[in-house]
Amino acid sequence: MSHKIAVLPGDGIGPEIIEQALRVLGALGMDLDLRSAPVGGAAFDAHEHPLPPATLELARNSAAILFGAVGDWKYDALPREFRPEQAILGLRKALGLFANLRPAILYPQLANASSLKPEVVSGLNILIVRELTGDIYFGQPRGVRDIEDGPFKGERQGFDTMHYAESEVRRIAHVGFQAARKRGKKLCSVDKANVLETSQFWRDIMITVAREYPDVELSHMYVDNAAMQLVRAPKAFDVIVTGNLFGDILSDEAAMLTGSIGMLPSASLNASNQGLYEPSHGSAPDIAGQNIANPLATILSAAMLLRYSLNEAGQADRIETAVQAVLEQGLRTADIHEDGTTRVSTSEMGDAVLKALK
Ligand code: IPM
Ligand code: MG
Repeated sequence: MSHKIAVLPGDGIGPEIIEQALRVLGALGMDLDLRSAPVGGAAFDAHEHPLPPATLELARNSAAILFGAVGDWKYDALPREFRPEQAILGLRKALGLFANLRPAILYPQLANASSLKPEVVSGLNILIVRELTGDIYFGQPRGVRDIEDGPFKGERQGFDTMHYAESEVRRIAHVGFQAARKRGKKLCSVDKANVLETSQFWRDIMITVAREYPDVELSHMYVDNAAMQLVRAPKAFDVIVTGNLFGDILSDEAAMLTGSIGMLPSASLNASNQGLYEPSHGSAPDIAGQNIANPLATILSAAMLLRYSLNEAGQADRIETAVQAVLEQGLRTADIHEDGTTRVSTSEMGDAVLKALK
């Protein structure tokens, strides 16, 4: 049976890094039905919408989506509904991709890439499980309104709504506990329960779900403290589970601990393991088209796609081993290049991974 995969390259460096991931997928000898469609700014230019109906339809009907990146400053002035970011938010919501897995791994070969001391980060391997379809990101009502009374009466006010339904917290809790069970058996739930009702509710549900996972050690941390601990002693974490907004911020922080965001893949899954796979970095329009971007995060995202949505762990292992091998050979794109290593282009890195696969 051939596996249907939607390929959405997007903007900036998206197309060139996706091209390398496609070469790698093509070399596996699998029966994959790969179909491309425009998304983000590229889709706005072609079809006046960042997530055109045909693109959404293709995504819905695929087992998995391989996503490049979206965004470019030239779309910043558009009304919010037409901005490239709406494509990714729209896909998450439409497909119910509530579980976002963002690993932050420091490869031993890249120990010097981090801005933190090697002893603080060497061997770092944490997983952030971020809830992705709820919270203040999607809460209604939101907007701008007139203030009727109180000290700011007569002024306008911008507002958003933070909320979580019990089932939304439960299902992401299960993802967190199950991930922890397969790793170091430690789950840290991050919230702001000292201030927010939503967070206290989140924490209470986490504690309830924890009863089903007696083998996993659950801890709780306020988000401000978690931001500090991530730079102070990041290796103390195994799996972090958190809401959409806090997860957005902490996952960028965790990615930067490795100093090589160009290496980090991510997966966004729904209840039937349909998933969207994308590099953790953005579209980097400043270096687009120069053949210098690091394709490894996208290649590793393709590996996650094989592992989680196609249940092809063996093929995923092959890609991950090949990536380790090219690092071992000292090949580096500009973002992770250092003295004593060989600087290669985007396509040369793709060549090297292909060769290592054989
Ligand atoms: C991310 C991004 C998105 C988010 C943006 C592009 C809407 O920052 O995937 O982390 O905030 O979720
Ligand atoms: Mg983000």
